[in-house]
Amino acid sequence: MWQLGVNIDHVATLRQARYRGMDHGEPSPVEAARHCEAAGAHGITAHLREDRRHIIDRDVKQIREVVKTRFNFEMANTPEIVAMAIDLRPDIVCLVPEKREEVTTEGGLEVAGQKPAVRETIRRLNDAGIEVSLFINPDPAQIEASAAVGAQFIELHTGQFAEAFGEEGRRKAELERLIGGARLAHGLKLNVNAGHGLNYENLASLHAVPHLQELNIGHSIISRAVFTGLQQAVRDMLDLMKGYRG
Ligand code: PXP
Repeated sequence: MWQLGVNIDHVATLRQARYRGMDHGEPSPVEAARHCEAAGAHGITAHLREDRRHIIDRDVKQIREVVKTRFNFEMANTPEIVAMAIDLRPDIVCLVPEKREEVTTEGGLEVAGQKPAVRETIRRLNDAGIEVSLFINPDPAQIEASAAVGAQFIELHTGQFAEAFGEEGRRKAELERLIGGARLAHGLKLNVNAGHGLNYENLASLHAVPHLQELNIGHSIISRAVFTGLQQAVRDMLDLMKGYRG
């Protein structure tokens, strides 16, 4: 069975559009987390970016307090944020690359080229009782490096698959990359998640990818929520996820 982690960053994006720099404001990402869980989500994801453009420090503390399922803390591998994570004790950390000028996380983490730094962060987080996932492209070199540095999970970046979705040839090729990546990772004893750009239209194709445990989905769910309400949007996605055979 697939698990759904809902990324609630965009709830904070909307709040920051009006209340940046203030100690209050709506909509509340913490309240969003409660609604997602009430609708059956299996986890909540939030990304504290270096520039605090959406989720801010007080959000992650409150999210940690209210989340009863699994809190997945997305973050860059920087000394400040690693120290925060150790203090915060999320259930899992997902290490992502971060560039200030990007609109969203554009590519996967370069693990193969910085194994010692990633290995050391995984060790520190694991010592604090926090599991670690690495957000990577479905690239064999990155998958093998993720296993070599001792990650418990990888999250396969589905952004290129999502972008290619409208073109049959590219879509098939990207799907094959995800299938191959998931098989390789599973063979290396990594737990495999996936996310980025998944929506109500492209999700059906993802059923072809084996060994996936959790999908992390944000933008499409929060967008639909504007019209249907958040709980309905989560339930609609969970419906599309039913019947996954792994
Ligand atoms: N997984 C990771 C690691 C991400 O960085 C993001 C985007 O913040 C997502 C999943 C969710 O992507 P989307 O908002 O496109 O569903």
